[in-house]
Amino acid sequence: MSVAIVGGGIIGLAVGWRLLERGVDVTVFDDGRLGAWHVAAGMLAPSGESAHEQEALARLMAAAGERWPAFARELGVEIGFDVTGTLSLAMTADDLAAADRVWTRHRLARLRPSELREREPALSPRVRAGVYSANEWQVDPRRLVAVLRDRLAGRIVAKRVESLSEVDAGTVVVAAGCGTAGLTGLPVRPVKGQVLRLRGEPGLLRHVLDATVDGRHVYVVPRADGEVVVGATQEERTDSLVTAGGVHDLLRAAIDLVPALAELELAETTVGHRPGTPDNAPLLGRLDGDDRVIVAAGHFRNGVLLAPITADLIAGLVVGDEPDPLLAHFAPGRF
Ligand code: GLY
Repeated sequence: MSVAIVGGGIIGLAVGWRLLERGVDVTVFDDGRLGAWHVAAGMLAPSGESAHEQEALARLMAAAGERWPAFARELGVEIGFDVTGTLSLAMTADDLAAADRVWTRHRLARLRPSELREREPALSPRVRAGVYSANEWQVDPRRLVAVLRDRLAGRIVAKRVESLSEVDAGTVVVAAGCGTAGLTGLPVRPVKGQVLRLRGEPGLLRHVLDATVDGRHVYVVPRADGEVVVGATQEERTDSLVTAGGVHDLLRAAIDLVPALAELELAETTVGHRPGTPDNAPLLGRLDGDDRVIVAAGHFRNGVLLAPITADLIAGLVVGDEPDPLLAHFAPGRF
């Protein structure tokens, strides 16, 4: 069986790796552009990225989280998978009122400021309250892509696919992120995110921080090597400009939260585009009207979290396993 995958980002590579493991003759077409994975912080937040109002998506995300430890173990090398956990934080009384509704729904016990600073001494004394989520982790998407590319060595072709008719294979998996719209006609739109990378000595922070600071959402993801990722804006825009306002807003919120971040080097400013869909849930399954094509795209804010489960579900579909009932909720033709 010959399978072509259009898109060499985390989703395409993870699907490719799973197919290779199942003995499939797989080729990945990669256009050489740095996709959303290059910008992504790599938060693995099964309940932290606002899917609670969509029951099926919440189940998919929870199942995705459960698969991560085995996925990371199977890759067997250093991909920055870190299970220290996440502190969700609220800075002001208004921030707390909004956050508390979510924390109550998830039955998370509120920690006092002193308990928070025991966990993270660098937090501002102005932080009102927070909760600890033991099952919200992180991975380094850039390392993950490098390792997956390694696993698929010899199977990745540098080529920009303009039309699926160019691809000669029995099955074509489209995992082209925002480019999926042009290839399939499906409603995938780019949602711009500006993300910063700071660099300092390791050890300033241990947890992923996910905070609301004066009404502004910010996350801070510390890596073991001293890199600290700060994100992200969410803008319905297609441009790739790093803006003064975007950087200012992110830095102001992050430094309010952790004042010592002001001393770090501002090492990188980047822009990525999340592949959004009308309901911001992914498109997983066969393309209506063309049985040769399977879509694995539209993961919006959750591409890294959803990569392992997407890879398993899509590889199963390709090789003819009994379809997982979860897939029915994410049919590409549902709109
Ligand atoms: N999941 C983080 C983001 O999309 O900004």
